[in-house]
Amino acid sequence: MSSLQAAGATSDVVRVRVPAKINLALQVGGLRDDGFHELSTVFQAVSLYDEVGAVARPDDSITSAVKGEGAEAIGLGMDNLAVRAAHLLRERFGSPDLGVHLKIKKSIPVAGGMAGGSADAAGALLACSVLWDLDTSPNDLLDLAAELGSDVPFSLVGGTAIGRGRGDALVPLLSRGSYHWALAIAERGLSTPVVFNRLDELTAEGHTSPCPEKERTVLNSLASADVAKLARCMCNDLQPASLDLYPELATILSVGLHAGALGALISGSGPTCAFLCASESDAVAVARRLEGVPQVRATKRAVGPVPGAQLVN
Ligand code: C5P
Repeated sequence: MSSLQAAGATSDVVRVRVPAKINLALQVGGLRDDGFHELSTVFQAVSLYDEVGAVARPDDSITSAVKGEGAEAIGLGMDNLAVRAAHLLRERFGSPDLGVHLKIKKSIPVAGGMAGGSADAAGALLACSVLWDLDTSPNDLLDLAAELGSDVPFSLVGGTAIGRGRGDALVPLLSRGSYHWALAIAERGLSTPVVFNRLDELTAEGHTSPCPEKERTVLNSLASADVAKLARCMCNDLQPASLDLYPELATILSVGLHAGALGALISGSGPTCAFLCASESDAVAVARRLEGVPQVRATKRAVGPVPGAQLVN
């Protein structure tokens, strides 16, 4: 048992905080035999967090409760990725008599393209492994995370990383500087599979291969902390599909750019729009301008990169 686990195991509730992600570059390749698309992406974890609390139960049930923005849209059973994570962890590393109640507090937008569900699954893996005092290594948790979803490994690791394969094969990156974001949360959500399917329809003649040069430019910008350069080279191959399904997002992107953002893109499959700003005060101004734009339900600010899933004392 690690000292991290020992510290968490003394309390009745094990709390874990997990960040949202933004894909600074998201290039989509061909459809694989397993139904997923080959991805080449650069992730940045940002300071918008869900919290997962794991409370011991006297029986072997795995239950959940969800609070916060959009909580009413989230299932509490096996349709909840955090509940699935607890089941998977117990099956592989625990004993059948272990139970847990998962208390999830949401701040990451639901169905927003910022890996909110993945964050909750990553939180459940870490919190339950501590609560149940399991003998799991970081690599064990990463393997389970990859089984649960493409973004779950990054939610555990955080920081800045390249994602290959279906997005789950990570290479951590060194990144200099802090990046200030304004975020526009849209009125409705977008389903990730629907966005990928729409992209397939829009590119019926075949996906272009991910371009290593584009990714290199993003990595160079991060290595030199060049925010303006990063803003110019951020890219998202899913964006045309998200815009096709949710055309009002184009107006949101353009309003944020006119308000002074250095760059704008849809986060992952969307519909959250992310605006990279030169400073915290610029991010405040951009967020303020976006409030009141039709189809913007809420605005938030965040800074990246931040660490992945962490125990909260
Ligand atoms: O892995 P995750 O459960 O987050 O993926 C959700 C859906 O997004 C998949 O079922 C698939 O339709 C699509 N997807 C994809 N290629 C990827 C990642 C996700 O087609 N690399």
